Amino acid sequence: MTVLSRIIAGETPLRRMRRLRRTASLRGLVRETALSPRDFILPLFVKHGSNAKDEIPSMPGVFQWSADRLAREIDAIAELNIPAVLLFGLPAQKDETGTENFADNGIVQQAIREIKKVAPDIVVMTDVCMCEYTDHGHCGLIRNGVVENDETLEIFGRVAVSHAAAGADVVAPSGMMDGQVKAIRVSLDKAGFKDTAILGYSAKYSSALYGPFRVAADSAPAFGDRRAYQMDPANAREAMREIETDIGEGADMVMIKPALSYLDIVRQTRDRFDVPIAAYNVSGEYAMVKAAGRNGWIDERAVTLELLTGIKRAGADLLITYHAKDAALWLQQG
Ligand code: PBG
Ligand code: ZN
Repeated sequence: MTVLSRIIAGETPLRRMRRLRRTASLRGLVRETALSPRDFILPLFVKHGSNAKDEIPSMPGVFQWSADRLAREIDAIAELNIPAVLLFGLPAQKDETGTENFADNGIVQQAIREIKKVAPDIVVMTDVCMCEYTDHGHCGLIRNGVVENDETLEIFGRVAVSHAAAGADVVAPSGMMDGQVKAIRVSLDKAGFKDTAILGYSAKYSSALYGPFRVAADSAPAFGDRRAYQMDPANAREAMREIETDIGEGADMVMIKPALSYLDIVRQTRDRFDVPIAAYNVSGEYAMVKAAGRNGWIDERAVTLELLTGIKRAGADLLITYHAKDAALWLQQG
């Protein structure tokens, strides 16, 4: 016998990790993380007009929908066991304060009612921000060339109440204004919507990976950037302070965004806080996978399922992903 085979034969304790990897059933039995369509939240872009389903060039497979075309799409989503959607609206007009944002007949308000009519059980979440609605494309009111925090809070409160009145189950403030969760909680409660939940975009980084989204939602800032309100990608401890603050202000769930370059933040959040955690697999992350997949450089299906599993393994409970329908279908196919 060689030295090596004696070691293997038992003179030295040897773990054989491969035993439980031998067959698909064994691997399934010891799998620690199970991806399910029940974890998914699908973002949806809604716009005015009729019979519109317009593909976003930098996000193949993602569309801007008119409210009248939503019914079939919502049926398909429900059929795939995806429990929730996150709505973004493209208003008819943009102005300084983004008035359509809190209009009763605004596009998001119409879409909420339409979805609730077709599928009352689908959890309807809405993005609460100003950048899609303002002519300057910033997430808050501009005063003397800068984004004014406290005056913006009042608008966020009005938007959240308007979404709740239309039937939204969850409002998700994404503007990164200080105090936004508290302002929204107080406004909702005052208006009688004490059961409308808040998903805080608590740790939202100032990321270049939002590029394709800004085309889809027509929400790029007309001047400057968002670094004076969104987080610096270099900071982790600061994310814990953001999350702690949002929970203290009444957030029912928190979000980390983007997901893939911030898995350490997802993990630290999981280890420190007991609220449900959402991770947003953002537009740029989606576009990179799509582009490489379309070029035949990667296997889109395998890569997508691996990435989503990684986000869940890092500690996310809810995965906000443009791949939700594809992934749900792939999981169904096994
Ligand atoms: C708006 C908002 C953005 C995203 C979600 N809400 C863009 C931004 O902050 O500029 C990004 C979503 C994505 O990239 O998929 N506040
Ligand atoms: Zn915004």
